[in-house]
Amino acid sequence: MATAVIPQQSRPNLAGDVRAGLCRPGQKELPSKYLYDEIGSALFEVVSLLPEYGLTRADERILQRHAAEIVSRLKPQVLVAELGSGSGKKTRWLLEALSGRQCTTYCPIEISPTALARCESELGRIDCVSIVGFERPYLDGLLAAAARRKEDDHLLVLFLGSTIGNFDRDAAERFLTEVRRILFPGDALLLGTDLEKPLPQLLRAYDDSIGVTAAFNLNLLARINRELDADFNVAAFRHEARYNDEDRRVEMHLRSMRDQIVTIPRAGCSVSFVKEETIWTESSHKYHAGEMEAMAKRNGFRCDSQWIDTEWPFAESLLIAE
Ligand SMILES: C[S@@+](CC[C@H](N)C(=O)[O-])C[C@H]1O[C@@H](n2cnc3c(N)ncnc32)[C@H](O)[C@@H]1O
Repeated sequence: MATAVIPQQSRPNLAGDVRAGLCRPGQKELPSKYLYDEIGSALFEVVSLLPEYGLTRADERILQRHAAEIVSRLKPQVLVAELGSGSGKKTRWLLEALSGRQCTTYCPIEISPTALARCESELGRIDCVSIVGFERPYLDGLLAAAARRKEDDHLLVLFLGSTIGNFDRDAAERFLTEVRRILFPGDALLLGTDLEKPLPQLLRAYDDSIGVTAAFNLNLLARINRELDADFNVAAFRHEARYNDEDRRVEMHLRSMRDQIVTIPRAGCSVSFVKEETIWTESSHKYHAGEMEAMAKRNGFRCDSQWIDTEWPFAESLLIAE
């Protein structure tokens, strides 16, 4: 079926965000969305295959086993929008189940053009599914996808892979409220959340034995070198995954191995690092399965159903807009 890409209207402000995150006092930070350039998106695909990173396989097991049941709980005619689709590999199960009962438009929404292109080639040949990809940030893309709905269409929004865990808890709530604002009553959100599990298992998932996650994290510095002419000595930083007990999240950091000064000409700044100082690059919040019901309620949804993978504790929750 047909495939179309709607390109981004405005580029993300890498220079401004790097300056804001690295040139301020206190903990240095970089937004995790910048991990996904061409190399980062390719590395994330490899991360999702690692034995230590059970999350993607757990999510896929749920979708594979329960696709027919998930689809049976939806209104008859749906337009599917996926936030941060990545390669979209797991989504095939849902699209195939849907295409058995209706022809479907699928709108992957991605800031990474590489991930979007991969998604389109992965899912572009399913009978009765047409793809309209949006190279946009989540909510801009969702608004654009929602504008394509026909009179009888309901929206099914997919937010898989526990990507919601990259938001702080308050920001995740605000995000759900914003998503709900774009939906009509009866529309659905399928939300994947990684659940708490023993600490060694969690930490290994973000610090694997062959260093792919480390490369994924360090690539952010290499990206800043490539795109902003910076002079990060990538070998002078080390990947670190740590668990923040109070906030129930794994944090990825890049630790400076010595005192150093980095110049970032296209961000108009120089940044000093003291030995052992870190840049915080990503958070992955973990949830209890029972939290979803209250979280849904607080943001204008009801939790219709939930499927849990027990091999790698992970939940898919089907939330219906009220
Ligand atoms: C953790 S990966 C998950 C990919 C896929 N959904 C999965 O479950 O395997 C997050 C994806 O969201 C995309 N992304 C990150 N921030 C985004 C944003 N603000 N707007 C749109 N896409 C974003 C990234 O490019 C990446 O492909």
